[in-house]
Amino acid sequence: MSHILAIETSCDETAAAVLKDGRKVLSSVVGFQWDIHRKYGGVVPELACRRHIEIIHPLTEEALKKGGVTLKDLDAIAVTSGPGLIGALLVGVSFAKALSYSLKIPLVSVNHLEGHIWAISLEKRVPRPFIGLVVSGGHTNLYLVEDVGKYKLLGSTLDDAAGEAFDKVAKILGLGFPGGPAIELESRIGEPDAVTFPRPLSKKRGFDFSFSGMKTAIISYIRSRYKVNHVDDIPAILRGEDKFKADVAASFQQAVVDVLVSKTISASEKTCIDRIVISGGVACNRLLREKMKKDAEAKGIEVYIPSPQYCSDNAAMIAWVGHRLFKQGIYAGLKLNPDAGRALG
Ligand code: KG4
Ligand code: ZN
Repeated sequence: MSHILAIETSCDETAAAVLKDGRKVLSSVVGFQWDIHRKYGGVVPELACRRHIEIIHPLTEEALKKGGVTLKDLDAIAVTSGPGLIGALLVGVSFAKALSYSLKIPLVSVNHLEGHIWAISLEKRVPRPFIGLVVSGGHTNLYLVEDVGKYKLLGSTLDDAAGEAFDKVAKILGLGFPGGPAIELESRIGEPDAVTFPRPLSKKRGFDFSFSGMKTAIISYIRSRYKVNHVDDIPAILRGEDKFKADVAASFQQAVVDVLVSKTISASEKTCIDRIVISGGVACNRLLREKMKKDAEAKGIEVYIPSPQYCSDNAAMIAWVGHRLFKQGIYAGLKLNPDAGRALG
């Protein structure tokens, strides 16, 4: 029997989880920071670090309590060491090191992207190999996943990540933060084909993505209808224009989803791997979940998507990977430093 405590602080969520025997999630606690970052329309790194410092201790205690374990029951500490915001990572890594040192148990360093890829394993066993799409606020990466530790990066974004595009477009429209859920909500009353926004790189044969052009296309579209001196004025200009905003949101969401789905399916076809796993915060999006399943399954490709609580940032997914590394004896040691640009594949 083993118990792993995992700590995740790579961006704006403080998270702790306890995993038993590499399979059973005893607890998974997430401290959201939306209240702090909302007024800026995006994550402010310095504020994120400060909040991590304030809540990491009580949040970890809560995870242990909910999991019905004490510090003495733990066999290892797993921690996200990158990629992410350097100051935010530093809080989690320092906290995990202190626990590992004082409890005299191994410290395991986990790549955040690897956590997202394997989050599905908390709920379901996925045969390998598979095509893994990680779509979050910081990444849009397409992988060929052979096994734990064996990844080939097929493509990634050349500019903004998909989640970043959702956040920026929501800010332009004055819909609030985080942008993904706000756009999704707004889209419910909009027409997805009201405006045809570009589907960047979708016709190109490679697997790279590009989303920053969509933001520019949206600004141009708004300028073609309304007099706009400065982008920051748009939320005020669009006050009361609910149908217009909803149509833009729905058409944007459709464009992003179309690109993500078509590239992922074409990666599956090209590699002859008929299994797709999607994860990361954007994988909470209902249109993406439904379209990926419908289009892929029509071609005989299986699609696996974790439940939303394990798509967005959480520590249970870090514990799952941490447990595999712990079993293989791959420990980090107290010299571990966070790596903001830690790559995978
Ligand atoms: O994986 P995640 O929690 O954190 C990172 O590793 O970045 O992803 C956060 C991102 C944010 O950009 C957020 O707007 C987006 O995921 N997101 C969504 C939805 N829920 C969260 N995007 C689209 N639709 C959603 N329902
Ligand atoms: Zn993430």
